[in-house]
Amino acid sequence: MLKNVYENKTLFFKGPYTITFKEGIFEIFGAQPDRDEKIVIPENKQVPVMVLKQGKIEVAENYPKGVTEVNGYPIPVSWDKLVEKIVKNNLNTILILGATDSGKSTLTHYLVNRLVAQNKSVGVVDADLGQSNIGVTGTLGLAIFENKIYNMQDAKIFKSHFVGGFSPSLHCMEVLIGLKKLVATGLMNSNVVLIDTTGLIDGDNGRALKLAKIELLNPDLVVAIQKKDECEHLLKNLNNQRIFKVGLSYYVREKTTEERKLNRKAALAKALANSKSMKLSINKIKLRGCYYTTGEKLEIPENFSNIILHLEKYSKREGTLVVLKKQIDSKKKKELAEKFGKLKIFVAGQEANVLVGLLNENNDYIGSGILEKIDFARENIYLQSNVDASQIKSIVIGSVRCDLEGNEYGYFEPGIF
Ligand SMILES: Nc1ncnc2c1ncn2[C@@H]1O[C@H](COP(=O)(O)OP(=O)(O)OP(=O)(O)O)[C@@H](O)[C@H]1O
Ligand SMILES: [Mg+2]
Repeated sequence: MLKNVYENKTLFFKGPYTITFKEGIFEIFGAQPDRDEKIVIPENKQVPVMVLKQGKIEVAENYPKGVTEVNGYPIPVSWDKLVEKIVKNNLNTILILGATDSGKSTLTHYLVNRLVAQNKSVGVVDADLGQSNIGVTGTLGLAIFENKIYNMQDAKIFKSHFVGGFSPSLHCMEVLIGLKKLVATGLMNSNVVLIDTTGLIDGDNGRALKLAKIELLNPDLVVAIQKKDECEHLLKNLNNQRIFKVGLSYYVREKTTEERKLNRKAALAKALANSKSMKLSINKIKLRGCYYTTGEKLEIPENFSNIILHLEKYSKREGTLVVLKKQIDSKKKKELAEKFGKLKIFVAGQEANVLVGLLNENNDYIGSGILEKIDFARENIYLQSNVDASQIKSIVIGSVRCDLEGNEYGYFEPGIF
């Protein structure tokens, strides 16, 4: 049905919902729909439609079911001031800081739409590993925008960096390396790069990681989105000219831990959909994120051949990797230590269900997979993925266990084998 809508109002549509804009001027996360444009809001998404000039929209017959109408607009005035500043000063790199659920990703989305409307191409680097808008769970992603976008999750990924875990504080170094690379790629391919960071802004790890990001990425502007003074401790040593403080929207909504977990599960399942089993020869691919295959392979002594599957020697300090068929008692361990010195013992099978990143010949991430097993004796690796096996040239071992449905089974210690 056709519904009259009035200026200075915002309609929050809860998906699934389809709206067609007939008359008037509207704005959705900074994007203005064209006349007769139809937008589809997916399930579990709530989208605010700001009515800038009164008009008519085509909505469901059961209107106002699924719709909440409020007075005014949910975008703080400071967000528009920020757009002005970026455009006026031709800024290239902008890092967005804020606590969890402060609206960082919404602000990023808003900036994308407002900047593309001014003919800028905008790169967005998503630093979130667990709740990625851009890219697969466990990766950092870069997307480049030249046109307006209503749902950031529809963005085409330009480049990803596989980290292999969901917690930034457990993967600081890999996160920093990935961000540096993606920002550099973004700057080469767009006018402005926005870095949407995670809400981890305090504690030892939060402070260290956020300050390192600022230091390393050297943004022209650090945007602090805060209710009060949540980010101040991170801004202390920055030149004032590089800081821009904005407020939170009145309409921010906190995600529960459960909701975050479900989002992660759904995103992971989507990334791994239509996976099939594949077998790859370890001699034809490179493994990363593990000791295995980086040392000198040793012959298995006759008297240990019934328990050892693989032996590999590293430096004296690192010792020898002993891959066992099954756990052995301390007496046997002592015998092995006498023969090989320091031991790194790994019982085959522990690698099952570990999340892995798959890279092509240019070392670009092309997808994720789940390890089924490594056949250490025959030197084959079995995994499930939807990536074309012939493209896989490197496999990066992640640090979480999960399955194709996106269920998580805990941590897999890096460097354990
Ligand atoms: N200006 C706004 N107008 C309407 N809704 C908003 C606005 N800002 C934030 N929200 C809502 O608040 C919620 C949290 O926002 P958002 O996901 O952008 O926060 P975040 O800081 O990126 O969270 P996270 O810490 O998970 O990264 C979302 O549901 C979002 O739609
Ligand atoms: Mg976010």
